[in-house]
Amino acid sequence: MQNIKLHDDSRHRFVLLNESEPGEEDGIRSNQYLIMHDDAGVLLDPGGFGVMPKVLAEMLHYLSPSQIQGIFLSHQDPDIVGGLTTWLELTSCPVYVSRIWMRFLPHYGFTDMSHFIGVPDQGMSWEPTSDFKLHIIPAHFLHSEGQINVYDPVSRILFSGDIGAAMMPMEKDDPYVDDFAAHLPYIEGFHRRYMCSNRAIRCWLETIANLDIDIIAPQHGPVYRGAAVTEFLAWLKDLQCGVDIMQSGGRFPQQFL
Ligand SMILES: [Fe+2]
Ligand SMILES: [Fe+2]
Repeated sequence: MQNIKLHDDSRHRFVLLNESEPGEEDGIRSNQYLIMHDDAGVLLDPGGFGVMPKVLAEMLHYLSPSQIQGIFLSHQDPDIVGGLTTWLELTSCPVYVSRIWMRFLPHYGFTDMSHFIGVPDQGMSWEPTSDFKLHIIPAHFLHSEGQINVYDPVSRILFSGDIGAAMMPMEKDDPYVDDFAAHLPYIEGFHRRYMCSNRAIRCWLETIANLDIDIIAPQHGPVYRGAAVTEFLAWLKDLQCGVDIMQSGGRFPQQFL
């Protein structure tokens, strides 16, 4: 799938750049996003080592590495951070990540941590340029203990990291979820196993309750738009997952044991 513009007006774009190739992570493809405001760009979850050249090639259609004003990491997983040492050879921009992963990230081979900014647990505002503002939203324990989201008020897109992530068959690569009921089989097992608890979900739902959201863009699988946004959030609200299932003596879906 080539890059898809989720939002595109004269000054502001939100672009889904690429998905990883089959064979990586047992075929679980990942999304990388570029937000552009005038000449400034921000990369969200730029991806693992294997996809970096493809993501760079797609990004070069829009801007050069010197125009990247920041890189955002929703959490610490290798399919997000694995390509970052190479990105930091091309740009010296700041990298935003939950503060709890600052001690852990040097294990990826970063020798200079001065680029990294530890996001506090409550989140923060982020102004890549003077008239380009993003909101970093806490989404902890869903699944990572230090997961953060990005809300873009211009496009009204919430980048949700692993929340809403889908494990799609290789032959399916529609960019959007338009029929939530048909999409459910691709998200249910993952969310039951990987999301820590319904209490963590309820905290996140309270945090995002006042945001005006047109699209939820996860790190894996198609993005939610229209009625699928509300239907997904309503499904999530009552989901029993993680320790809820362990405490009730339930079993996780076989494929995620
Ligand atoms: Fe993850
Ligand atoms: Fe992920």
